[in-house]
Amino acid sequence: MSSISGIQCKTLVQAARKFGTPVYVYNQDRVEAQCKKLQKHFPEITFHYAVKANANPELLRIIRKQGIGAEGVSGGELVAAMSAGFKKKDLSFTCSNLTEEELAAAVATGARVHLDSLTQLEQWGRHKLGSQVSLRLNQGIGAGHHKHVITGGPDSKFGISLSDIPEAKRIAKQYGLEITGVQQHIGSNALDEAVLLKAAGVLLKTAETFEGITHIDFGGGLGVPYKPQETELNLVSLGKKFSMLIKDFRKKHGAHIEFAMEPGRFLVAQAGLLLVSVTDIKHTEKHCFVGVNSGFNHLLRPALYDSYHPVENVVRTRGKKAHVTIAGNVCESGDVFAAQRTMYTPEIGDLLAITHAGAYGFTMASMYNLRVLPKEVLVTKANTLKDISFDPREFAR
Ligand SMILES: Cc1ncc(COP(=O)(O)O)c(C=O)c1O
Repeated sequence: MSSISGIQCKTLVQAARKFGTPVYVYNQDRVEAQCKKLQKHFPEITFHYAVKANANPELLRIIRKQGIGAEGVSGGELVAAMSAGFKKKDLSFTCSNLTEEELAAAVATGARVHLDSLTQLEQWGRHKLGSQVSLRLNQGIGAGHHKHVITGGPDSKFGISLSDIPEAKRIAKQYGLEITGVQQHIGSNALDEAVLLKAAGVLLKTAETFEGITHIDFGGGLGVPYKPQETELNLVSLGKKFSMLIKDFRKKHGAHIEFAMEPGRFLVAQAGLLLVSVTDIKHTEKHCFVGVNSGFNHLLRPALYDSYHPVENVVRTRGKKAHVTIAGNVCESGDVFAAQRTMYTPEIGDLLAITHAGAYGFTMASMYNLRVLPKEVLVTKANTLKDISFDPREFAR
């Protein structure tokens, strides 16, 4: 194997030499290619990148330059987006259990705000935050790779239920507000075209029950394959079907209606990997543990969601293979990146690439066990290595 995630192995070796490990390495070409794919297959849709997937300032700038907006779920994410140059007209904000001050601050940025509850709608009216509002709806449809990331349906804390719409309309009337937007986000990493289309169809039906809708946001959730047996979404087919839904809706309700989506993972997941070094090999009755110098403090997904991430040996491409369990250096048994994988038997000092780590990797990293955060490096279009590390505390609010 000469490249991993589109990055030459020799470049990864250079990255490890120059910046040390653990280090996140991102492929600029891949991020740009993912942006272009969406724009090509969903020409009627405006995209707002979900900053939560990866808030690295350089990646935000790369995505912005592709003509994509940004979606935040906290004041910090909006600040990060604005400092990466996103204009207020290209920002949206999805509320989740906010204080009144946080809600007012989000509105003050000029972002399009999607309200999550009747309480927020009432606060909006009481504080006179604007004459037009957009509501995040929970239409009872959820999807996703793990129950923690299914954000629609009866067990989800998100959105205003369809049964609460009459009350939302009453509150809006009381404060003289016009409900001009609806949004939903059913969950993360949906690889099933049918559920995405079903949710979109139901949202359009619900939108018809409001007078004066000008903006419909289908949320994020577009999935990418992580496991070898998973297949990617067929964007040609999905794009055509969305296009039909949108054209039909515009025919009935007006060509002025705007449509948006908020992809996070789709743009960055496959563009990033976590490069780690093997520090120990331990044979037990059940496992060959390959110990590495990073852990769930740097890539939480396997421990939190039992997520599968491919792991490749960067420096060993021949020899004997073994079933190994890749374990991290956090002082907890749950700190396992991958269990019982077959790969060229790693040795101490080898470099391993944990791939598909560009989304919800660094953004979920912590300093647990008092270890520092990994550096972040970009493989640029010119195939150079650029240190793009940043301190998230700069933006956190
Ligand atoms: C409101 C909202 N929009 C968009 C996204 C992005 O989701 P994904 O990364 O699956 O595209 C999320 C993620 O959970 C979200 O909560």
